[in-house]
Amino acid sequence: MAGTPPRDDAAPGAEVSLYGDELEPGALVGTWVVEGRVHAGVTAWLYRASHISTRSPAALKVLRAEYNHVSEVLRRFKQEADTLQALRHPNIVEVLEYGELRDGRPWLAMEWLPGESIDRWLAHRGPFSTAEALTVMEELGGALHLAHLQGVLHRDLKAQNVMVIPRAEGFTVKLVDFGIARVQVPEGLSGLTSAGAVLGTPVAMAPEQIRGQAVDARTDLYALGVLLYQLLTGRLPFEGASAVEVEEQHLHAPPPRLGERVHAPPALEAVVQRCLAKRPEERWPDVPTFLDALREALAPAASTPWAAGIYVDVRFPESHEEPSDEDLDARDAALDAARDTLDAAGWRFALEGGNALLAWHALPEGHEARAHALADTRALAEQALTQARDAASSAVQVWLYAHAAPSEVTPDARGRPRLAGGELLRLERWATGGTPGTVTWAGGGLPG
Ligand SMILES: Nc1ncnc2c1ncn2[C@@H]1O[C@H](COP(=O)(O)OP(=O)(O)O)[C@@H](O)[C@H]1O
Ligand SMILES: [Mg+2]
Repeated sequence: MAGTPPRDDAAPGAEVSLYGDELEPGALVGTWVVEGRVHAGVTAWLYRASHISTRSPAALKVLRAEYNHVSEVLRRFKQEADTLQALRHPNIVEVLEYGELRDGRPWLAMEWLPGESIDRWLAHRGPFSTAEALTVMEELGGALHLAHLQGVLHRDLKAQNVMVIPRAEGFTVKLVDFGIARVQVPEGLSGLTSAGAVLGTPVAMAPEQIRGQAVDARTDLYALGVLLYQLLTGRLPFEGASAVEVEEQHLHAPPPRLGERVHAPPALEAVVQRCLAKRPEERWPDVPTFLDALREALAPAASTPWAAGIYVDVRFPESHEEPSDEDLDARDAALDAARDTLDAAGWRFALEGGNALLAWHALPEGHEARAHALADTRALAEQALTQARDAASSAVQVWLYAHAAPSEVTPDARGRPRLAGGELLRLERWATGGTPGTVTWAGGGLPG
């Protein structure tokens, strides 16, 4: 440990920049003036500092004095600087400068991130919504993928190492602390950590990392899954009184289900479970595959399903006298013919009355598939109209309207789809006007 130097050196811009292990406010480190300590880590202190002339803020990470001669720690610290300098990404903290104190201790000046780590954010505000969690995963996933492409593993991904920075709308996240990141070395060459040495934090460590076995991108994906679980539930998947207890669960306990704590769609549950698989080969192979699956798992909630509707209205002309029994039979026959045609095509009936019916059908997702389904709808409407007119007499008129719109479809008591809401049920908006004996397309253009 360095001795305690005279306090009167502690003036901004002082020649001597060192005041023992911990730096005092006013200490000068390179061109940075220390303002105060914000974090005491195991191997390094983190200070807020500002530039001596521009006053722009920075986060200053300085190695603790007791590690100054521990070569492995020193190398790792320098490697963090190199790694960060090589990884430029909007969601990775930016390195501004690297240097050494007079006693040889390395320091790293990084952009100052005006926010707080995810674990503190969670403590104040509780779990993230699924949409917010997706944003975090998209941003962090992009950062991690870049690192992986460059052969760098983070190896200590966890809530404490991700900063949330509020924005005018929403927030952005940045990955910090590449302190134990490792550049993947070809087989046979030794990495920076000695064989079997365990680095990382048990809260989010994959089984192979706990065992000191080979690690790869899937090790970071395990940690990403732990973080996703934590974002959605506000809790860690495995908790315990000691590191050993937590490690034991990461090694052997089945991953908990989100559904035990929050409401989660099965697809989302499956995505998280696959991140937390014990064996790397059972996990998502890489970040993009994971993100695709996550997006898809969360997509249905975001998009409204569409349905097409056909409304058949059989009326007597306004001038018509009191309808005869024959006229009434002709009306029923026309409606029955239309109903049979629609029923045979697999359409369901939302409304059925004495002189009208509303048939509907769910439309597929995707522009092309939907356009095809709408063309089929038009053809079916023409067919229903022809059948109805053929079955009717000249005493009745058949009005036929077709429309497509976002709709609420829910299962009925027997589990069959039921048109529960949406524009198709508001007939007064679309089944009006038009000419008898033709199909009136009420939907305007094709839905998106
Ligand atoms: N650039 C930064 N700006 C502001 N705060 C930061 C910055 N980098 C890290 N921190 C805060 O300091 C803490 C420790 O930083 P970190 O690099 O993770 O050090 P350690 O290796 O000690 O874990 C982080 O959890 C975060 O709260
Ligand atoms: Mg950290």
